[in-house]
Amino acid sequence: MNFLSWGRNPWGQDILTHISWDLLWASLIAGLMFLVAHASYMVLSAHRKGKTAEVDALEATNKDLPERIPKHSFMARMFHWVMAASMFTLLFTAFLPIAGIRFAWVQWHWMAGLVLTGSIIFHIVHATFWLDFWSIWIGPRDIPEFRAEMLRELGHDVPGPKSGKYPLGNRLYHLAIVFAALAVVVTGVIMMNRIRTPLFDRNPYIMSDPSWGLTYVLHGLAGVGLVGLVIAHVYFAVRPDKWWITKGMIFGWVTKRQYLEHHDPTRWKVGGGSAGRL
Ligand code: HEM
Repeated sequence: MNFLSWGRNPWGQDILTHISWDLLWASLIAGLMFLVAHASYMVLSAHRKGKTAEVDALEATNKDLPERIPKHSFMARMFHWVMAASMFTLLFTAFLPIAGIRFAWVQWHWMAGLVLTGSIIFHIVHATFWLDFWSIWIGPRDIPEFRAEMLRELGHDVPGPKSGKYPLGNRLYHLAIVFAALAVVVTGVIMMNRIRTPLFDRNPYIMSDPSWGLTYVLHGLAGVGLVGLVIAHVYFAVRPDKWWITKGMIFGWVTKRQYLEHHDPTRWKVGGGSAGRL
């Protein structure tokens, strides 16, 4: 399998052009294999099922909580779905031509790229000043939760910290998507200098050939990485056991029971004040 693709400049020198598109198929197959492996494991393993009596008791001691627990504000949901639409447009416009389906993809691609860029800038400002910023990040304080999660997955009945607003898997996923999305956005905006747009004059001379090669390679690597990441995300979003999380992103709330079953009320505080921010 080739990792890089090379071309020739007008002076006959070898120049890096982009990644080898073999990597697209590798990422697609890795994503699909993960999906099959996880689905098989969930069917065959002894992973922990919800404990009805435990949640009943929690509900009895938390009678004052509302039936619907607000989770995602309207603006947070708008960002998520605008970002998802632009991400799918980018993936299809980039990779369908590589898979042999030819159409004028570049204009749709850069326009969707600017929508993604704008939505990410909005999200950074919104999450920094209006949301509970630290609730999505991971750190050493999450090691006990990670250990407990692993043991539960292996069928052990361990007490242990439940997650705050976001489960550990979601926080790890967010970290991966931050790196991949920032890489495609920064390189994509630079690459707009190589194409014709009504926004500004094309100028392919802002960088040397090797720098352009590296920019295209980074854009391609992050792009094929996003193929695998998006497959995994969609798979978890449609799994019946995770459907309650997806519904939360559509309607903005989870039920009191779901909140008590899956979250630690001391780590995700419901109500007013900065601790209860959406
Ligand atoms: C999900 C995110 C994205 C994916 C999967 C993706 C993928 C790709 C791929 C595979 C190419 C072809 C590169 C090559 O020939 O080596 C490309 C080109 C390009 N992308 Fe993206 N991209 C994404 C996001 C963006 C963003 C956010 C922007 C702009 C803000 C952007 C702007 C461009 C431009 C201008 C080109 C160059 C077209 C050319 O030189 O003909 N992309 N992208």
